[in-house]
Amino acid sequence: MARSALLNVMVKAATKAGRTLARDFGEVENLQVSRKGPGDFVSAADHRAEEIIQEVLAQARPGYGFLMEESGEIKGKDDQHRWIVDPLDGTTNFLHGIPIFAISIALERQGQIVAGVIYNPVMDELYTAEKGNGAFANDRRMRVAGRRELTDAVIGTGIPHLGRGEHGRFLLEMRHIMGEVSGIRRCGAAAIDLAWVASGRLDGFWEHNLKPWDMAAGLLMIREAGGYASDVNGRDKILETGSVVAGNEQIHRALLDRLKSAAKPA
Ligand code: IPD
Ligand code: CA
Ligand code: CA
Repeated sequence: MARSALLNVMVKAATKAGRTLARDFGEVENLQVSRKGPGDFVSAADHRAEEIIQEVLAQARPGYGFLMEESGEIKGKDDQHRWIVDPLDGTTNFLHGIPIFAISIALERQGQIVAGVIYNPVMDELYTAEKGNGAFANDRRMRVAGRRELTDAVIGTGIPHLGRGEHGRFLLEMRHIMGEVSGIRRCGAAAIDLAWVASGRLDGFWEHNLKPWDMAAGLLMIREAGGYASDVNGRDKILETGSVVAGNEQIHRALLDRLKSAAKPA
């Protein structure tokens, strides 16, 4: 499969940063036993990955702006284009030696996401999508799963934790969903969750309080793989509200319905 020049640049940035992240991930295991733990080391690895990505992208497309988790917003001379980057999604997994983490890079053109790359360097799984040109996993075309009933579905989610998110709301949502589905997974990396909805591993996904860099690339992948994604009200304000609900047409609708019930006062 011939990739566009744009995707080639994004893949180059993701795989280059991925190589150093994979090397650093190997070190993390040794640091678990040290008294200080791997915290500072992981934070340095995260920043290093972001620098590599920025360098590769800026060299290939001078002038484009950036929105990056670690460095924030960097305005470019070209105000039509902006890279949206999470250099390490799944930091807690990385820190604990769990090999589910990824680099996520998206390109926004005139406010619309037009390309996305998500790369898990340990599993060597590369997900790409370009608007209008489909979505691919290691160069094989992706389609969302075909299961139409919640009873057959495995659904991904994000569980709020210490200092993060609305715990009561999540428990209510679980009460409305867990008894109706075949399984629930909390993988710990939203970018991978979304890529897995696009590839059909997960039938659906919902999470709140996410950031644009967690979702931008993955949302495009889901849509290019024939899936649906919206905010919790069924609208397209995902990046603005930080809430996402995704799946094929039927699973997306069923999840929206259950989340609506969960939000009704008892
Ligand atoms: C986190 C992961 C996690 C999600 C969190 C995110 P980070 O990103 O995507 O799955 O539940 O809300 O912040 O911090 O590992 O880049
Ligand atoms: Ca993230
Ligand atoms: Ca991150």
